Amino acid sequence: MRQPLVAGNWKMNGSLAGVRELLAGIKAGVDEVETAEVAVCPPFVYIPEAQAQLAGTAVAWGGQDLSVHESGAYTGEVAGSMLRDFDCKYVIIGHSERRTYHNESDELVAQKFTAAHKAGLVPIFCIGETLEERESGITEEVVARQVDAVIDHCGVETLGEGVIAYEPVWAIGTGKTATPEQAQEVHAFIRGRVAAKSPQVAEGLRILYGGSMKPGNAAELLAKPDIDGGLIGGASLDAGDFLAICKAANG
Ligand code: PGA
Repeated sequence: MRQPLVAGNWKMNGSLAGVRELLAGIKAGVDEVETAEVAVCPPFVYIPEAQAQLAGTAVAWGGQDLSVHESGAYTGEVAGSMLRDFDCKYVIIGHSERRTYHNESDELVAQKFTAAHKAGLVPIFCIGETLEERESGITEEVVARQVDAVIDHCGVETLGEGVIAYEPVWAIGTGKTATPEQAQEVHAFIRGRVAAKSPQVAEGLRILYGGSMKPGNAAELLAKPDIDGGLIGGASLDAGDFLAICKAANG
């Protein structure tokens, strides 16, 4: 049985005061979340605040990116070991905003997967097609390429120690969610792709959906057999909405 994971991707939002309030709100309501594992990924500078407030609670925390390097002259970068210093469990890698605005290639994302794994972090590995790719009928080709890049680089067993987040780029922050059927279809395809290498890894692998997931559509998405949780952007900035999505996994 795969335990659902609902992770908040706060992106570049918040202030110290706002983050304190959001963390307090999540902490106050997390006891009502029965089934899902809950995690938040704040901007780097707020991670110590997340650690201070969330240590000893049921909420895990993580980063939104990491460097492929372990240390050295890489101005502006943050190493996996630094995230571990603040007890991060997770790190998002390969988010479409990083692929688009920072030109992150499949190869670089695969290197980041390895760097995260080596540092003892659980990568939340994001994949997904653009609208143009969907309309050209190449969704499966695109996600297969993205998944294969990590399998080829790290091996399927290592992939299995991470989490995949399927986020159709056209659904991120647009209010347009994939229908539960559209999402399920791609999730099943991804699991099948992994199963071709290792049925055991595929069976245990959590595949999250991301892209305009909200309290109003979470239950339907999470009810699908291959959707094992969510990566939540906009709706994770409101403690009530975020917790409602986490509770939607209760069934
Ligand atoms: P969204 O973002 O929920 O705001 O669409 C999801 C994500 O980018 O992880």
